[in-house]
Amino acid sequence: MTDNSTGKSYEFPIIEGSVGPKVIDVRKLYADTDYFTYDPGFTSTGSCESKITFIDGDEGILLYRGYPIDELANHSDFPEVCYLLLYGELPTKEQKDKFEHDVTYHTMLHDQINNFFRGFRRDSHPMAIMCGVVGALSAFYHDSLDINDPWHRMVASYRLLAKMPTIAAQAYKYSIGQPFVYPRNDLRYSENFLHMLFANPAEDYVVNPVLANAMDKILILHADHEQNASTSTVRLAGSSGANPFACIAAGIASLWGPAHGGANEAVLNMLEEIGGVDNIPEFIKRAKDKDDPFRLMGFGHRVYKNFDPRARVMQESCHQVLGELGVEDPLLELAMELEKIALEDEYFVERKLYPNVDFYSGIIFRAMGIPTNLFTVIFAVARTVGWVAQWNEMVEDPDQRIGRPRQLYTGQDRRDYLMIDKRG
Ligand code: SDX
Repeated sequence: MTDNSTGKSYEFPIIEGSVGPKVIDVRKLYADTDYFTYDPGFTSTGSCESKITFIDGDEGILLYRGYPIDELANHSDFPEVCYLLLYGELPTKEQKDKFEHDVTYHTMLHDQINNFFRGFRRDSHPMAIMCGVVGALSAFYHDSLDINDPWHRMVASYRLLAKMPTIAAQAYKYSIGQPFVYPRNDLRYSENFLHMLFANPAEDYVVNPVLANAMDKILILHADHEQNASTSTVRLAGSSGANPFACIAAGIASLWGPAHGGANEAVLNMLEEIGGVDNIPEFIKRAKDKDDPFRLMGFGHRVYKNFDPRARVMQESCHQVLGELGVEDPLLELAMELEKIALEDEYFVERKLYPNVDFYSGIIFRAMGIPTNLFTVIFAVARTVGWVAQWNEMVEDPDQRIGRPRQLYTGQDRRDYLMIDKRG
């Protein structure tokens, strides 16, 4: 790099990873040059070194610890993917059975936590409840708050994985005025989650295996995704030494945004607003209009400039679930037509705006009988393992420091205070 104002040249090392773009190591840039880099939205910035998830946006590749997402979605299950993300390798049968047992026996909440739900209005958005209750876990589980103790970190990690479905299901039950359904140790993760969501004390409830398989696949597809907004939020919160429950609550808050995890709920609301195929051209026109804040929810991605590989798996699963449940959903037909029209439109083609993971997930959730305002909650349940794995990796990184970005300041230079009787 040459500073044209002084003619001075500077060299910065290039670091190569195992796959993907190399990085320019600018850690000494400010000390050596008095310059900051400038990258709002971090489009060209690597914030950390990680071994967990790799994405190639041009090729539409997503790997969890090196394994392609479509192979994991088609051959693995969510507990096994959680083990892989946390420990870096696929488990043996014994390791998997022990992991599932240990997580299962953490699914219950401290009974006093149930009082927290009663402080919310019944019509609270369940993501608001998730933020509040997950953050409050640090008030109960004092024996897993020391982030420098590997045992504490492991217990906190298992507690978060195990309790998120319970909290999510209780947030839903509270909103519809039904009693909480406790977790059951004889059910597997996705079955247990669906049982807590849909069972009630008045009758037996057997989980439909089609729904359990669909839920398990959706959890796998949403489990981790490199340094997205909510994961970066968890890492930044964790870099100050905050406890894991507080960090995950921060991640939930970030995921809630409609540009991120809130998009699946926004897709359904958008499809219902479009209403019918004849109205698609008007909404496509609005999506292109810079003066109109409307965007085609479920389209576009910061990284994927090709098809989101998760969307492909989700699309297949969508047709399978609706077929097996015998659901004829006009919104799916509308979504397919919208996808077809958008992918032929120059504006979307030029900007490489393809359907992302959120485009189809909302339709599957709807077919499963899950209310729209719970879609992002399920995304949060799935992404908890990614957040926890990335948080552990950050805490264990010997080079880890508190995250503290700088800025380009364009405000007022120094000026003297003006007494109020001197102001115009
Ligand atoms: C997730 O990061 C992750 O990994 C996230 C995620 C994960 O697993 O963690 O994959 C989950 O968040 C998926 C994305 C869900 N969000 C949505 O579906 C909301 C709709 N999408 C957009 O808001 C947008 O595409 C983003 C936020 C996803 C990406 O935004 P970028 O990368 O900042 O892109 P941009 O805003 O710079 O857009 C580039 C151009 C702009 O037009 P020009 O200024 O070049 O003329 O594309 C346009 C944008 O206006 N554009 C869209 C659009 N998305 C981008 N135009 C219409 N509809 C859209 N959806």
